[in-house]
Amino acid sequence: MSSALCVLGCGNLGTAILRGIFTSIAEKGNKQTSVSPPTRFNACVHKEQSAKRVEAELASYKGSNELKVIAGDNPAGIQDASTIILACEPSGLQAVLEPLKDKLSGKLLISILAGVTVDKIKSVIPDSNCTIARVLPNTSAAIGQSMTAFANDSGLTADQNEMVKWIFGCVGEVVEVPTRLMDVSTALSGSGVAFAALMLEAMATGGVAMGLSPRDAQVMAAQVMKGTAQQVLNGEHAAVLRDKVTTPGGCTIAGLCTLEETGVRGGISRAIREATTVVGQLGRGVPNPNRTKFD
Ligand SMILES: NC(=O)c1ccc[n+]([C@@H]2O[C@H](COP(=O)([O-])OP(=O)(O)OC[C@H]3O[C@@H](n4cnc5c(N)ncnc54)[C@H](OP(=O)(O)O)[C@@H]3O)[C@@H](O)[C@H]2O)c1
Repeated sequence: MSSALCVLGCGNLGTAILRGIFTSIAEKGNKQTSVSPPTRFNACVHKEQSAKRVEAELASYKGSNELKVIAGDNPAGIQDASTIILACEPSGLQAVLEPLKDKLSGKLLISILAGVTVDKIKSVIPDSNCTIARVLPNTSAAIGQSMTAFANDSGLTADQNEMVKWIFGCVGEVVEVPTRLMDVSTALSGSGVAFAALMLEAMATGGVAMGLSPRDAQVMAAQVMKGTAQQVLNGEHAAVLRDKVTTPGGCTIAGLCTLEETGVRGGISRAIREATTVVGQLGRGVPNPNRTKFD
């Protein structure tokens, strides 16, 4: 019997990851992948009502894959799994993992806990003899459009490396970075969803102020962001794209000058730096790092 994949803490992101995997298996089977996709899946949650929610959400996606949703029994969930995605809240790390420390030997443990380092996880499960990978997907995993950062320098075998890339490739794009760049990757691609949403909202607000309906303004702003992003993903440099739209003496340069005068570029890049700093502090256990930020 092949080994299972277990999602330990199957909340919003865990469910999105399983849905992406099931969808990908249904569409591609085991073509276009160098790994053998698992066919058995265990989803572990804390409460019975969460188990019902996960079952209901995944029922129409699981296809011929075997899915066991388990409430309040993590040892049963990981027992037959060679790969575990740790997806509980960071505050639940100790409570979820510590009781499993003698049951993880030989397994691949993939943590998606924002800001939690591999060393921190090792301190909870010393001598557990498992391989730990740190990855950071974002909430766009829910629609198969995650930007996932993967720290690929923590001693994974080639097969384990491929498995991580396959799993998160099922919910979007994967970029490999060294561990030292995981905090900035968390700020840019995890928190970045909120930053992009704020920019989108601001553009729409300007449109509404000048007479567009709120719905039309949101759709326009969203489609502009989507189209711009796709051109950059196709290989266009953002600065070249900006230049192409800018006619001398025209309306775009008027708007761009306003953005530069109001410090938008500096503000956004500072937001990334600030969020990076706070991720690092949270990872080191600094209590409530934002509290004293501007004292
Ligand atoms: N939001 C982001 O942008 C983002 C980006 C990247 C990574 N992350 C990370 O992703 C992780 C999950 O986020 P999320 O939004 O999916 O959280 P979530 O919806 O709150 O899910 C957490 C899950 O953990 C389960 N859980 C809690 N205690 C448990 C226990 N003792 N045993 C088994 N399961 C337990 C919960 O079960 P119950 O429902 O039964 O309590 C719930 O299903 C977090 O660590 C977060 O840092 C978040």
